[in-house]
Parts: sequence; structure tokens; C-alpha cells
Amino acid sequence: MYRTHTCGQLRIENVGQKVTLAGWVQRSRKLGGMTFIDLRDRYGITQLVVDEGNTDLMATASSLGREFVIQIVGTVVERQSKNSKMPTGDIEIALETINILNKAQTPPFTIEDESDGGEDIRAKYRYLDLRRNPLKNALQLRHRLAHEVRNFLDGEGFLEIETPYLIKSTPEGARDFVVPSRMNPGQFYALPQSPQTFKQLLMVAGYDRYFQIVRCFRDEDLRADRQPEFTQIDCEMSFVERDDVLDVFERMMRTLFKNALGVDIPAKLQRMSWYDAMDFYGSDKPDVRFEMKIADITSLAHGHEFSVFDSAEYIGAIAAKGCSEYTRKQIDELTEWVKRPQIGAKGLVYIKCNSDGTFKSSIDKFFTPEDLAKIAEKVGADKGDLILALCGPKRKTQGQLGTLRLEMGNRLGLRDPFNFAPLWIVDFPLFEWSEEDNRFYAMHHPFTSPKPEHLDWYYSNKKEDLERVCANAYDFVLNGTELGGGSIRIHDAEVQKRMFEILGFSAEDADYKFGFIINAFKFGAPPHGGLAFGFDRVCALFGGQETIRDYIAFPKNNQGRDVMIDSPSYIDDVQMDELALKSTAPRQ
Ligand code: AMO
Repeated sequence: MYRTHTCGQLRIENVGQKVTLAGWVQRSRKLGGMTFIDLRDRYGITQLVVDEGNTDLMATASSLGREFVIQIVGTVVERQSKNSKMPTGDIEIALETINILNKAQTPPFTIEDESDGGEDIRAKYRYLDLRRNPLKNALQLRHRLAHEVRNFLDGEGFLEIETPYLIKSTPEGARDFVVPSRMNPGQFYALPQSPQTFKQLLMVAGYDRYFQIVRCFRDEDLRADRQPEFTQIDCEMSFVERDDVLDVFERMMRTLFKNALGVDIPAKLQRMSWYDAMDFYGSDKPDVRFEMKIADITSLAHGHEFSVFDSAEYIGAIAAKGCSEYTRKQIDELTEWVKRPQIGAKGLVYIKCNSDGTFKSSIDKFFTPEDLAKIAEKVGADKGDLILALCGPKRKTQGQLGTLRLEMGNRLGLRDPFNFAPLWIVDFPLFEWSEEDNRFYAMHHPFTSPKPEHLDWYYSNKKEDLERVCANAYDFVLNGTELGGGSIRIHDAEVQKRMFEILGFSAEDADYKFGFIINAFKFGAPPHGGLAFGFDRVCALFGGQETIRDYIAFPKNNQGRDVMIDSPSYIDDVQMDELALKSTAPRQ
């Protein structure tokens, strides 16, 4: 038997027992004629002690390096100086034997909670990084959440059904990863961006409650909350309306919060329209942990001979609480911050609402104190607040204000990661107009249904009518991150045909891309809808982080590379020939 206990298991009650443990040497140190060794495994750390008098054992103990794998036999004894921070801190093991199971090279960074290794080196030696507590805790949380999800959905009658990975392009709007087919030279599979079409086919097949915790693949620019392969909790239901779907998944999230974190979220979550989210938060994923809403001050700011404002379509502002004492330097720095290309504002106007009731602003020349007081009232600014205003095209400026709002929220400490503020965003526009391509795109995907009350606009040929059509779609947003999204689908052939027409697909195009699903819908498609949560994001936010990488055992870096296994990589000419491939990229 390799071990009788784990390294996290022994307590004061075990004193006197003879035990066998196995694990990794975290560190060893000599102190007052004794050698102490910390032995670590997945479950914790146990202190081992060797008496200097035992020369053979001392020789072995002295030869141990960090991360050696050893097996020990010894007796549990009560510690002289206890460590209340460690669950095993009341005891130690008086060693009788040490068996070195495997030596280890000195690791390239310390295996501690705060490692001295940079991100790149830790990514290269991911299996060593995974020995550290923060990553171990992250993966444990992930396991726990997956278990809770399965438990909950099973209890609600959902069936977990797997769908294929080698498929045809899916309609999620990112680039596909493709896989060449050796047996069908010149032809390619696409990896699923999501199981969207398959879950809809399962509804046609009568499996009215489906779910899957499933890998999805998207070739898109990576960010802290995006990986090229990521996992969804993917769900679909038949004979449901929007509120049936929202009800099930509100309850699922409430269960996850309660069972994994012991946190209660409201029984009925806030629902905000996409239009309000954009107008008041400058984002379709608003962080509602704090107020600081965007106010439209266009009508108050126009007509004061300040040409920057007068020529702008829209002028909006936020009030940063208690920031009226910002110095010139701080405001200059904030101005440079909003002018960075990632945000792209042309400049920043400020109004300090001084504690004595006076104002000091960068637009004093054009606005009287009474004018500024009206703006302050509209923005909800009190004495002691700092108003920050931006102007330009409406949606773009709101987006910039939204980013500035989050930054001020960070600076004011209003974004505590363990304060959870979930909500639903509903009533998205169904279409997005692209000036560049002079055509409409689906905001979600082409199977999303229009809201029934907007069907007249849907069948109109006027651009402004089509722009007004709302999708019967919803996103689940938590603390400024989109955790999930879905919709009630189109199940009516006529409505689907009209969708393809608006999106500019010819009948042949639609048939080539989605013929299989259009066909399936001719055989009795039930009304259905569903959604998918980004599981990596759920895990990260539950863990109080924005970056999903630590919640994935083997993630890719920002260039989409796995530096541990050095992938992607070239394949040899024989393999290229077999796959009927020729590369135009020079080999490096
Ligand atoms: P959507 O494209 O909104 O919807 O994706 C659902 C959720 O998946 C997560 N997500 C990602 N997570 C990590 N890395 C990525 N690259 C990434 N892309 C998306 C997000 C997102 O909210 N088939 C539809 C769902 C439906 O309509 O039922 C879909 O995939 O958290």
C-alpha cells in the first residue's frame, strides 16, 4: 500500500498511529538538531520530522531536493509549536523510513501560492504550475460546479447528449477551425463553434430537454475571457417560451451560487433591455454592482457656442462620487487614458462639483454656473463629485463612457469580485447593420426568432423598420461579463426563409450551409429555445477572477499556442500529401 492517509488528513486524534504517506517534498529545513520536511499532495501538507541522532535517516533526509517524490513511514506525534493556519498543524510525523520513489530536477520556479515564475515559464511547465494551490483550487471549483450543473439539470429532466466535433460550419459568427479530411481530399470538417444546430435537431427528434457540458472551438482574437477552445453548458428545451427558459436557468444559477459559494442571489433577477443597457451603462454586459449611470446631457450641452459639443450627435456624462478633489495632473492622466486607441475618445470634459456648491470645469468659458448646475442635476452629481463628459456619435460615445465608468468603478473600489450582481439583458435588436458591407448581420445567429409583436417590421422592406425588430433573445450577465446567451428559435419555415432573405443568403447559399436543418424543420419542429453558458467564465467569476485561463487545466496563450506541447506545429510532407494540402506559408 503506497499510503494509509493523504497529506491533508491527519489530526490530533491520530496521535500515536503508525502511518504511511506519499507525496512531494515542498521544502526541508534544519532547526535545533532536527530536520523538518513538508510533504505535499493534492490534499494538503504534513510536516515530517527526523531526529539528528538517526544518522542513516538523516543522510537520506539531507539528500532530498524540492519536488522529490517520497514515501515515508512514521508515527503521528503532537507538535511542540502548533500551526493553526494548517489543517494538519497540530501534528507531525516522527519518521522511521524514507523511501525515495523518484528524484526531481529543481523546478524552474517555486511551487508556492505566490510563485516567483513569470507567466511564460509557468505555461511551459504547466504540470508544475498545476501543483500550486491557486490552480488546484480553481480546478476543484470547476469540478464542483460541473457536478452541481449535472445534478441540477438531471433533476429537471434534462438529458446529457453528446454531439459530434467533426461537423460543418456553425453559425456563431467567429472563424471556424477546420480539419482536412484524408478520405475526402480537398474537403474539410469544421470544429463546432457550438452545438447549436445539433441541439435544434435534437428538439426535432423529440428530446425536449437537452444539455451538454461541451467543448466549443472559435478562431477569434483572444482576451482574458476568451480561449480558442472553451466549454459551454449548452441547453435546449421544447414547448417553451422565453420566461420558461429564464426561470429554469435562473434557478440553476441560484443553485450554483448557493451550493458552491454559499451565496444567495435574488429569486427573481433583474431584466434590462439592451437599449437601457447601452444608454445607461454603455455596454450590453453592464456591471450593475455600482450606479454611476451614464446620463444623456445632449440637449443641455448643445447651444453654448462650444463647437466641440455643438457639432456632436450625442453628449453623455457620468458622476464619479467624491472625486471633485482630483488634481489637474490626475485629470490630465484620465484624459490621456480615454484618448488611448483602445478607447478612442477625442478629449474629456470635466466639471468639479465643489463641496462649497461652486463649480470648476474645463468649459467654464461657455457655461454659466446655472448651466453647470442643470447638468449636475441631470447626471445625479452631488457636492464633492466629479462629472466626466464625452461627446461624439451616440453608441460609440456611450461605449467609451461605459469603459470610463468601469475604470472609475475600479479606482473607487466599487467592483468587489465577491459582490455578485447577476441580471438578464433582453430585447436585443435582431439585426446589426454593417456600413462597410452594406447589409444586415444577425446579432446572435440566424435561427434566433424575432419577438412576435415585431413581425410586421420583420416583413417590412424598410431598413429603419428592420433595425427596430427585437430578437426574442437573452443574455445572462454577471459583474460586467456575459456569462451566457440564448434565444427562442425560429421554428416556422416562412419566418426562417425571410431571415435568410434579410441576411442576403440566396436560396442556394442557405441550402448549402443549412439545408440539413431547413429540411429537418419540414418534419415537425416543435417550438423551442435554449441558451448556453460559458462554463470557463462561470468558474472564473465564481472564483473571483476575470481571467479564465487558470480555470482550464491546459489553456492556450494569447497567440493561441500551447507552449507546453509546442502546438500548433508543422506537419511533415507525407502527412500534407495524404491530406491533399499545400502550404503557402514559409517554414520558420
Ligand atoms: P454565444 O456565442 O453567446 O452563444 O456563447 C455562449 C457563451 O459562451 C461563452 N463564450 C466563450 N467563452 C470563452 N471563450 C470564448 N472564445 C467564448 N465565446 C463564447 C460566453 C457566451 O456567453 N449557440 C449559442 C447559444 C444559444 O443560442 O443557445 C452560443 O454559442 O460566456
